[in-house]
Amino acid sequence: MEVIICSSYEELSRAVAGVVADIVRAKPDAVLGLATGSTPLGLYKELIRMHKEDGLDFSKVTTFNLDEYVGLQPDHEQSYHYFMRENLFKHINVDPANTNVPSGTAENYDEYCQQYEQQIKDCGGIDVQVLGIGGDGHIAFNEPCSSLASRTRIKTLTEQTIDDNARFFDKKEDVPIFSITMGVGTILEAKKLLLLANGANKADAVAAAIEGPVSAMCTASALQLHPHGMIFIDAEAAGKLKMREYYEWIQTQKPTAPAS
Ligand code: PGA
Repeated sequence: MEVIICSSYEELSRAVAGVVADIVRAKPDAVLGLATGSTPLGLYKELIRMHKEDGLDFSKVTTFNLDEYVGLQPDHEQSYHYFMRENLFKHINVDPANTNVPSGTAENYDEYCQQYEQQIKDCGGIDVQVLGIGGDGHIAFNEPCSSLASRTRIKTLTEQTIDDNARFFDKKEDVPIFSITMGVGTILEAKKLLLLANGANKADAVAAAIEGPVSAMCTASALQLHPHGMIFIDAEAAGKLKMREYYEWIQTQKPTAPAS
């Protein structure tokens, strides 16, 4: 894992956008795994800027989102379909037919989840997966105790996640209890993982993910199993890391390190 501590949320967003943009430039038909939540908003703003000002071309890109609330129609303002349209897709030249967000209104979820997994495989797998992290250490909606081998499926949200996400709804009772989410096993198959976190409220989860044991109790710790995981955090989110100085030292030494 590479831990990159950024001086601000803006720097973090620019750094992650730079990694995504390099992948899209090197492989114009790249498959991007995308996330929702407040954390990737700065990344999406920067990608939109790069599209508008630098001509970053998304016309051949395919996208797969991590998750969706069960029961919300795609035009519901808190659905992740709506989020992605408003915060990224409608501002860049991605073909809407190539954007995939799990359905929150499928008739048969067993079949639908298998189909979603198959679609990812048919596209050759995800080249780079963007991830946030929940206060309870979840990635996507893989709440504590999710199998680290799990696949796309229905997951019941924890009380903490419902509380965390209540800020986006009129009232807590409106937050859906169920989600459809890629599994940890699905996520680990992406060729590169970029986990983003900012703010002191993520510091415990970030420390558990990076320095704790690999555990289903903190599904973000599964990144320790991935050969190409990058974790971008701001100073506040880095606040509880024991080896912080070492991670910073690695970054300062990087230009002189032997090529790998
Ligand atoms: P946030 O959510 O970006 O809104 O903090 C992250 C998550 O729950 O995965």
